[in-house]
Amino acid sequence: MSDAGILTGVAVAVVGEQIAAVGPQEELERAYHGADRIDCQGRLLTPGLVDSHTHAIFGKPRFEEQELRASGLDYMEIARRGGGIHASVRDLRGRPEDELFALAVSRLRRLAASGVTTVEVKSGYGLTPEDELKSLRVVRRLGEHLPLRFVPTWLGAHEIPREYRDLPQGRSEYVRLLVSTMLPGVASEGLAEFADVFCEPGVFTIDETRTILTAARSAGLGLKLHADELRPSGGAELAAQIGATSADHLAAISESGIRVLAESNTVATLLPGTMLFLGKEKQAPARALIDAGAAVALATDFNPGTSPTTNFPLIMTLGVSQLRLSVAETFVAATVNGAAALSLADRVGQVAPGFSADLALFEAADARELPYWYGDQRCAGTWVRGHVCHPYLGEAH
Ligand code: NIG
Ligand code: FE
Repeated sequence: MSDAGILTGVAVAVVGEQIAAVGPQEELERAYHGADRIDCQGRLLTPGLVDSHTHAIFGKPRFEEQELRASGLDYMEIARRGGGIHASVRDLRGRPEDELFALAVSRLRRLAASGVTTVEVKSGYGLTPEDELKSLRVVRRLGEHLPLRFVPTWLGAHEIPREYRDLPQGRSEYVRLLVSTMLPGVASEGLAEFADVFCEPGVFTIDETRTILTAARSAGLGLKLHADELRPSGGAELAAQIGATSADHLAAISESGIRVLAESNTVATLLPGTMLFLGKEKQAPARALIDAGAAVALATDFNPGTSPTTNFPLIMTLGVSQLRLSVAETFVAATVNGAAALSLADRVGQVAPGFSADLALFEAADARELPYWYGDQRCAGTWVRGHVCHPYLGEAH
């Protein structure tokens, strides 16, 4: 991760949807004489950023909880009082698909404008078969309407809904609903590539998580976990054991969790914006994970409760300043490893021949500027599969 392969004075040749060559500008100008040409004017061209963890399908924002936390109320306590995820669930259930689509389009445009070209989007604010399908259909429509690359994830196991929490056998009944009704519906419509579970004390237990993800694997889905976010519960260990593609959050990961993740192929996806916004002092032990040999990715966790940001470079700032990554590690975490967290590493996340022409151009002369000017939006344009995604201000000539 410490070598991001940063080059200067090079050009990139794109043929069709793919990168055909990367090399000295003069050489490529000769080899591709007569091709359309975009002058990047010495600015920073990177792989399009890969945001491998978002909850972008939601209705109203949850402004009120920010002040409640500031006044001393904990995230989990707000959830116990019916706020948190439950509030977003009540709201989403009342909204038609078209409305959720329109809200998501405007929010994802902002994310794209920050330099993101691939975005994973989870359901998880429906928690009924109909409302989870509704959310995932919105993701499918987004993929048909926006030039971004989307990866849909089913997160029916985001929370035990209130109507089940209050029943004596509610927990097991909801797990049964997930496995026997929701999952087959999602799989038969081909609406998700991954399944995810919020594995956390007070939400889904290790055993419940194993049951749900084992069924998801049998249904052909890749596996992800919200693991060890607030308290350690063996989520990282479970992720490695069942061969999850990624284990996400990990702010409270144990020593043994670090060890087993480092020995596994599971990507450790860290979400420093979440801990910042929740006002937590603790961040995931990124250094220990990388030094032990784990593959670390960074993502926004864009959601209405714990990380309402669409600014991916800001997350890269936190990568350096809060997680103590080097700039090179931060770029790898935001591109190559993000792609690996979505099983796309053979196609996406690198500016290299044979990779998809997913690129981002930034108003910067030096890669270190991207995490440095924190909170700034410096993305001048993005391309996905060789097509303009975020408006490019210059002209091809
Ligand atoms: O990744 N941890 C669980 N899910 C989200 C928060 C969802 C919410 O509060 O709405 C997260 O932080
Ligand atoms: Fe999340």
